[in-house]
Amino acid sequence: MKKAFLTGVTGQDGSYLAELLLAKGYEVHGMMRRSSSFNTKRISHIAHSLQDPASRFHLHYGDLTDGSALNRLLKTIKPDEIYHLGAQSHVRVSFDVPEYTGDVTALGTLRLLDAIRDANIAAKFYQASSSEMYGLVKETPQNEETPFYPRSPYACAKVYAYWITKNYREAYGLFAINGILFNHESPRRGENFVSKKITHTVARIKAGLENKLLLGNLQAVRDWGYAPEYVEAMWRMMQQDNPDDYVVATGEAHTVQEFVEEAFRLVGLNWEQYVSTDPRYYRPSETPTLLGSYKKAKDKIGWEPKVKFKELVKIMLEHDLKEHGLTLS
Ligand code: NAP
Ligand code: GDD
Repeated sequence: MKKAFLTGVTGQDGSYLAELLLAKGYEVHGMMRRSSSFNTKRISHIAHSLQDPASRFHLHYGDLTDGSALNRLLKTIKPDEIYHLGAQSHVRVSFDVPEYTGDVTALGTLRLLDAIRDANIAAKFYQASSSEMYGLVKETPQNEETPFYPRSPYACAKVYAYWITKNYREAYGLFAINGILFNHESPRRGENFVSKKITHTVARIKAGLENKLLLGNLQAVRDWGYAPEYVEAMWRMMQQDNPDDYVVATGEAHTVQEFVEEAFRLVGLNWEQYVSTDPRYYRPSETPTLLGSYKKAKDKIGWEPKVKFKELVKIMLEHDLKEHGLTLS
């Protein structure tokens, strides 16, 4: 039985990937950090089996800032595949905690790669690289060859993590790869990312619990896909014989305002009556527009997106309306 080790198992992608790997028959080991309140909401439906001695799902405490814990975990678990999804992943927040973001998101990746060397295991390694690395984009659409121009402490940390992954592949022959994923969303998306903030608030407005939605830059353009499909792409990259880097995207670009318009349209409300902008939600330097080409992923690993923009908004909104006993008519 193959063993997988996941950082970020309590996050959006970690939760979907854990489900996928369990369904494929893997033994799954997830690392979670200690928190004063429960941070296992997204995995509670699979974590309930933890007491069962036959369970193939295991949770371990650890932190990306704690290299000795990472070393110990890899030496004990000896995984075949490592999916490194843990990060301080919020771009706006990275301007408030730049040093912490660098420590977790950049150096955390180095610590984990070094732990693979220390444990002397032949594990494959997946790095959750980001389209944010393209920042002030040098060409459109962006592909695996497009130069980076990061625009936030988060994106700078991800550029470091990208290159250290590539360096360990070249220097030590590790099967270490980068999935350069464009924005991907789902009902499990964190509530301070714009997609979830919109659908969550629109559902509350429809339920009569809220009467405004405060946002930042409505003109930002993103290539939004559906998270469960993106974790499938991660797994496919890891099943290849040779390590390589891949862009995962939908090839469709929409503004934040279009996301807002579509969500309000679905519930039959006029968005302009509810939405205002607030300087708190702007970034000191923005990534104005992202659009990815998934050609290499399609050609080499047979992956392509199925859920596109309008269906994504609908999936997320339907889920959030259901929380209030409402449905789309
Ligand atoms: P997420 O929901 O924010 O999850 C991040 C995960 O990292 C959580 O499990 C979090 O734990 C964990 N974490 C944070 N700080 C940590 C630390 N110091 N030590 C150990 N774990 C820590 O992010 P996501 O959307 O699933 O994204 C997964 C990865 O892909 C991230 O690396 C992100 O930067 C990258 N990425 C995401 C997208 C996207 O659009 N979603 C696109 C490209 C790349 P808690 O639950 O305790 O907070
Ligand atoms: N979060 C947020 N909140 N963003 C807003 C808001 C708001 O109120 N109003 C406008 N935006 C704009 C942001 O300025 C940005 O241009 C866009 O909406 C998307 O913001 P987020 O949803 O926070 O995502 P992101 O693109 O900054 O980063 C996400 O995608 C990256 C991949 O490109 C994160 O998941 C990163 O971890 C990931 O690497």
